[in-house]
Amino acid sequence: MSVHNEVKRITTSVIRKMKAEGKKISMLTAYDYSMAKIFDEAGMDIILVGDSAANVMAGYDTTLPITLEQMIYHAASVVRAAKRSMVIADLPFGTYQGSAEKALDSAVRMMKESGVQGVKMEGGIEIEQAIRGIVNAGIPVMGHLGLTPQSINQFGNFGLRAGNETEAHKLHEDCLALQTAGCFGIVLEKIPAKLAKTVTDQLLVPTIGIGAGPHCDGQVLVMHDLLGINKGFKPKFLRLYLNLFDEIQGAVSSYINDVKSGSFPNEEEQY
Ligand code: KIV
Repeated sequence: MSVHNEVKRITTSVIRKMKAEGKKISMLTAYDYSMAKIFDEAGMDIILVGDSAANVMAGYDTTLPITLEQMIYHAASVVRAAKRSMVIADLPFGTYQGSAEKALDSAVRMMKESGVQGVKMEGGIEIEQAIRGIVNAGIPVMGHLGLTPQSINQFGNFGLRAGNETEAHKLHEDCLALQTAGCFGIVLEKIPAKLAKTVTDQLLVPTIGIGAGPHCDGQVLVMHDLLGINKGFKPKFLRLYLNLFDEIQGAVSSYINDVKSGSFPNEEEQY
């Protein structure tokens, strides 16, 4: 951002300060220019270009098929709209697991070709080296633990994570490893609220919860869920702010009726 621009971008240091001052962090997904513009102007702190684009934009059952090129396309569209919000993009499945060099290449491509301010990666201790390499290159990384949709085939379901003592202990260790590796924040998805509070109290970096209770430093939702575009999806953690599926369908049905009846366009709607 230009130093002459009056809109101040949310940065990792602002996010860190928000945790220190007990100010909650708002985060929401977006995948295109028009929605991102609305969210940016509404005052969203972080816009996440999630690989949930695979589900809500492309209609896949899982997030696995989306490619780095497709994520870059979505991320660049969001970046063109966001003047104040920090924009973070998911590194998709297969672009960072198993090789720190490959992970750095993927993160560098995302930064260069989309203009986002950071990347998000799913996993704990097993991707610690990859995170270190990316952070050392000057790229902010947000971690993601708990329900990690890129590993759905390992777990077999989208249920609660870290619900027993062994898994809770592993999640706790993973949080500390991600913080030490340099993550500036960690998404906690679908874990018990009590566990989220314990790790949030212990960590210096903020936690952003989705289905992880009220004690996280911030909250994130998928925009289609919050706006009621994803009609059948009603998990316990979701608060519906609109019923956009019905609203849009109502408007579109009226348009169809008006075209069919010949009442659109009318006298004023022509040249
Ligand atoms: O891809 C995504 O939208 C996410 C959020 C659910 C946190 O990772």
